[in-house]
Amino acid sequence: MGKIKRIAVFTSGGDAPGMNACIRAVVRTAIFNKLKVFGIYRGYEGMIDGDIIPMESKSVGNIIQRGGTILKTARSEEFLTQKGRAKAYKNLKRFGIEGVVAIGGDGTCKGANIFSREHGIPFIGIPGTIDNDLAGTDFCIGYDTAINTVVEAVDKIRDTAASHNRLFFVEVMGRDAGFIALRSGIASGAEAILVPETKTYIPELIAKLQNGIRANKTSGIIIVAEGDDGGGAYKVAQKVKEKFNYFDTRVVVLGHIQRGGSPTAMDRVRASRMGHEAVQALIEGRKNEMVGIVKGQITFTPFENATKHHIEINQELLNLAEVLSI
Ligand code: F6P
Repeated sequence: MGKIKRIAVFTSGGDAPGMNACIRAVVRTAIFNKLKVFGIYRGYEGMIDGDIIPMESKSVGNIIQRGGTILKTARSEEFLTQKGRAKAYKNLKRFGIEGVVAIGGDGTCKGANIFSREHGIPFIGIPGTIDNDLAGTDFCIGYDTAINTVVEAVDKIRDTAASHNRLFFVEVMGRDAGFIALRSGIASGAEAILVPETKTYIPELIAKLQNGIRANKTSGIIIVAEGDDGGGAYKVAQKVKEKFNYFDTRVVVLGHIQRGGSPTAMDRVRASRMGHEAVQALIEGRKNEMVGIVKGQITFTPFENATKHHIEINQELLNLAEVLSI
């Protein structure tokens, strides 16, 4: 088989800060290697609709610092059907695309895996999700920026919490994973961190708060991942209040603020490295793998092993949070 000549890049699923830096790296690495490169708008939706444009070096100028994704993104229902994927294949063929770089999360990798097996076009995935819940990489694009956004917000909340002697329940994103909650909770010195990976016991949480009072704490922050089994920050706050009314409490749901903003230097560098490696991988004839960074080194993981259900939360960090929040 001859060298690949035409590739495409797209972003899919929830946007994540650093996706633009990654698109830039893919486009520029492709052009550096004399490949023709196309951008597909709105992820798999745009692939189905044929919303595909040629990209030049200039198309990705002045975007490394921008959050969101210039290629836009979507969660496609139609791509879950064989008919939808057949339409997408026709469009890739029409543009002569021989390899694709897919930037996104779990759903993106699953879609890429099914599609490339069905239609034989090589895909390389790049983990881009603030949730950081893909196996085969220590860090996904957007995670570092998201936890910094949370920490900045919680620092501000702490000022008012301390001034009023209040207890704040701060809900962060993470439907199925507690990675944002865990790291931002440690970095912001939270009194407790509730994650979907561990069961939440309200009496235990109350006992912890009571210990804090005995240690002269007059206010507090509880970080609650949206997917926690306690039911999110509002429900947890309500359950605590029913049994323990010592503090005046407030709830803050940070929501999509966590998905926006200028990416951190860390996210930009990781995105640039992985974007570059993804194109190199297609040139070398690799397919159906996700690029990752493990212990600082570039790695490749087959799509089927990269899905979120294989990944466990870091027990050492959970213990650390427990010790430091006394
Ligand atoms: O997967 C990223 C994520 O931000 C999750 O943390 C969150 O549960 C979900 O996307 C929200 O999705 P949407 O923007 O479609 O509401």
